[in-house]
Amino acid sequence: MSDSKKVERLAELRKQIKEGGGKARIDKQHEKGKLTARERIDILLDNGSFQEIDAFVKHRSSAFGLEDQQFLGDGVVTGYGKIHGRPVYVFSQDFTIFGGSLSETHAEKICKIMDLALKNGIPVIGLNDSGGARIQEGVSSLGGYAEVFWRNSMASGVIPQISAVMGPCAGGAVYSPALTDFVYMVKDTSYMFVTGPNVVKTVTHEEVTSEDLGGASAHGTKSGVAHFAEDNDAVCLNSIRTLMEYLPQNCEEKAPAKPSQKPDAAKAEKLDDLVPDNPNKPYDIKDVIGGVMDKDSFYEVHEHYADNIVVGFARLDGRSVGIVANQPLSLAGVLDIDASVKGARFVRFCDAFNIPLVVFEDVPGFLPGTDQEWGGIIKHGAKLLYAFCEATVPKMTVITRKAYGGAYDVMNSKHIRADYNVAWPTSEIAVMGTKGAVEIIFRKEIAAADNPEAKQKELEDQYSEEFAHPYKAAARGFIDDVILPGETRGKLISAFEVCQNKVDTVPKKKHDNLPL
Ligand code: HXC
Repeated sequence: MSDSKKVERLAELRKQIKEGGGKARIDKQHEKGKLTARERIDILLDNGSFQEIDAFVKHRSSAFGLEDQQFLGDGVVTGYGKIHGRPVYVFSQDFTIFGGSLSETHAEKICKIMDLALKNGIPVIGLNDSGGARIQEGVSSLGGYAEVFWRNSMASGVIPQISAVMGPCAGGAVYSPALTDFVYMVKDTSYMFVTGPNVVKTVTHEEVTSEDLGGASAHGTKSGVAHFAEDNDAVCLNSIRTLMEYLPQNCEEKAPAKPSQKPDAAKAEKLDDLVPDNPNKPYDIKDVIGGVMDKDSFYEVHEHYADNIVVGFARLDGRSVGIVANQPLSLAGVLDIDASVKGARFVRFCDAFNIPLVVFEDVPGFLPGTDQEWGGIIKHGAKLLYAFCEATVPKMTVITRKAYGGAYDVMNSKHIRADYNVAWPTSEIAVMGTKGAVEIIFRKEIAAADNPEAKQKELEDQYSEEFAHPYKAAARGFIDDVILPGETRGKLISAFEVCQNKVDTVPKKKHDNLPL
């Protein structure tokens, strides 16, 4: 073969690689409103930065006539590139080749980039679009999945792992995303389930569509499996690019900083009058976040799941921080099972990746009731408590209004080693709210009074005077200061400055035993 023939051969192979499963299947992918594996990578990564590896890999199976069906790359495009100038490893499953199904070699390609990512301390982003285990390969494919899962577990807490589910993901295909830090889904074109509607019908006699069973909306609002439900592939990929701006490359690094931006002026101006006098009247905690953090920097995680707690990333004076905030607009900001688990998972991510925490607290306590008790609010609430206790990143708490009962302890209190705890003058730090407390401790006095209503009112006023303020906690040093809402940003920035090189440790152990 002459040199020019060799070059031609490479050109021909490269052409084949780009063609994936062929034009007809690519057209079908587009008809469904989905992009191809390569088009997705082009949007995800900085222009022209993608370096593919293992494009010549082919499967090794011969069962069911597979030896005659060979596609270069074997249904997954792998390699590395950059997002905002920083390297990432990426794999993108190609649904046009065997439905993106995972063969032994397909798994080996994913494992190769995961090993490199771990060794080099670089995040991995997986774009999933797969019919699950390659059925013709049987147990080899199952083994391939387990190899991926093992790497997901080993990489957990070492490098950020992000998953986008951009098509069907059934069976094994859901467990790798579930082991990663953040799961994105695309509305109407993606779904995740352990078993699909047909199996569900056979086993439980339920009739359900794929979308209802495991679509982006089901997982973004009901199960919490998906942290983000995006409108289409392009929006999803751009959203991942935004997320990456808040994250470090690995657990040894700090997140990149950006130039400081003043907060949204209108929201900052309103801060001092935001909390209503009536403790039962709600307000939007996101207005507090907007008035304190750098303008437009809040990137919310799990927006539509357990919205009685708000979590997400933001920038304070240009630095990436993780926000955890009770939301008085939803269930009065109470902590329930879902909110506790959502908060705990986010706190643990931030702690693993050196992202300081800011808590905005307005919480009336844990949600009572049989649903919650039988569902295990004790063990799930303990997750959030545990997460704050073990976190060693700089931890700040701003009590805006209620900090009642166990929730006071849980929400990053001084006692569990928060670094800087402040309260607004509107805050009430007590075992419980005024009305409930008076009804319990003065039941007899109220019943015996000539005018029980007037007596109750008088006792409530007394209780409020005594407890419904931050000064008892301040007198004990349980909060460091009582500040005006408008002072919050400046105080937090100073507090973070002095905590920048914080060193805190936990006792030596094999690993913890978080209450699961
Ligand atoms: C091999 C597969 C495949 C698979 C799809 N294909 N799934 N090939 N193994 N698992 C192929 C199809 O034969 C077809 O090939 C092409 O991909 C596109 O599939 P269609 O069915 O035409 O597409 P669509 O109608 O969009 O349906 C997509 C689908 C469906 C919903 C994913 O294909 C499907 O249900 N596949 C099987 C899903 C499944 O049960 N997987 C195993 C899960 S068990 P051609 O040549 O026509 O283009 C599992 C165990 C792991 O994963 C457990 C580890 C814990």
